[in-house]
Amino acid sequence: MKIAIIGAGLIGVRRARVARAAGDEVVAVYDPDTARAQLLATEVRACLSDSAEAAIALSDIAVVATPNKYLEPAAQRAMETGRHVLIEKPMGRNLEEAHRLFKTQATHRGVVFKVGFNHRYHPAIMAAHAAFTAGKIGTATFLRATYGHGGRPGCEKEWRGNPDLAGGGELTDQGVHLLDLTCWLMNRPDWAFAQRRTFVWPLQELEDNGFFTLGWNDGRLAQMHTSWTQWKNRFSYQIYGTAGALEIEGLGGSYGEESLTLTLRKPEGGAPDVQRQVFTGPDESWRLEWEDFRRAINQGGSPMGNASEGLEVMAALDALYRSSDSFRPVTIDYPHRNETRK
Ligand SMILES: NC(=O)c1ccc[n+]([C@@H]2O[C@H](COP(=O)([O-])OP(=O)(O)OC[C@H]3O[C@@H](n4cnc5c(N)ncnc54)[C@H](O)[C@@H]3O)[C@@H](O)[C@H]2O)c1
Repeated sequence: MKIAIIGAGLIGVRRARVARAAGDEVVAVYDPDTARAQLLATEVRACLSDSAEAAIALSDIAVVATPNKYLEPAAQRAMETGRHVLIEKPMGRNLEEAHRLFKTQATHRGVVFKVGFNHRYHPAIMAAHAAFTAGKIGTATFLRATYGHGGRPGCEKEWRGNPDLAGGGELTDQGVHLLDLTCWLMNRPDWAFAQRRTFVWPLQELEDNGFFTLGWNDGRLAQMHTSWTQWKNRFSYQIYGTAGALEIEGLGGSYGEESLTLTLRKPEGGAPDVQRQVFTGPDESWRLEWEDFRRAINQGGSPMGNASEGLEVMAALDALYRSSDSFRPVTIDYPHRNETRK
């Protein structure tokens, strides 16, 4: 299929390479930074477009990998003209933008819309999901997670440090991955309590740390922390149940060795059985995510991280900000609760 890359930065380049390696053709690249666009266009032998609209017009699929502010307009344009869309996380800057995208997708049923949640395709995370849904650790009780890196001097000058371009700070940046994994594993939470802080970086109103609790009406709880002042990169996601636990550490690369530890308690008590699996291969998550997206286009059905799931994440994210601002636990308001799901 013919791919348009909108935004030729870190992720746009990665997506272009993955699409090509899978046998798709990158036909057009748009980035207002023409040097970047040219570099990618030359590499993948695509044409350089002078607008997102022009690039989309040449394509079957639009990959939208811009700063958060420009995700929605490009994805809207692509869907309205019948193109399939892979939009990077988050699904827009806020719940309002995500809801508009959801509604557009709902009126263009032939369009496959996927939010880029590559974490779901990490081997330890896939294995944990499979073990959890197979009931290995019994009934879920609580989750604990930490995700973060150390930011960098000057980050306030990048688009992620600009409230208008980013929409939010670290909760919006890496926090959405934790929210996505949690909704995927445990279904959508009912309420949230959050606090956000700007401890170190001069980011105006944007947070460099977010601390939150998610709750379900049946009593399950999730405690999570996402940070741009986590000086050594860290990903840790732990799922506890009545019969055991699944603990994911690392994502490979700068996040350290990726592993999954399954702990099973013995009904009679005493030391539990512990099995640790280490995943040392290269990061295949981007390739697997592309395959999932393409499978949905070719065979019908929905990819992981569809419009409904993306909107769920943004509803939970919206609740985190509302809770932090009001210093109260808040009910998560899912705008599509009564709308058609796909
Ligand atoms: N799935 C993940 O783990 C993951 C990781 C990093 C980033 N992301 C997401 O990918 C998106 C891009 O992030 P990045 O790290 O590649 O950023 P980046 O800064 O490396 O690249 C963004 C590119 O978009 C270009 N751009 C700016 N305005 C544009 C416009 N109006 N139209 C087209 N292009 C425009 C910039 O010039 C830049 O080249 C963000 O939404 C981000 O949240 C996802």
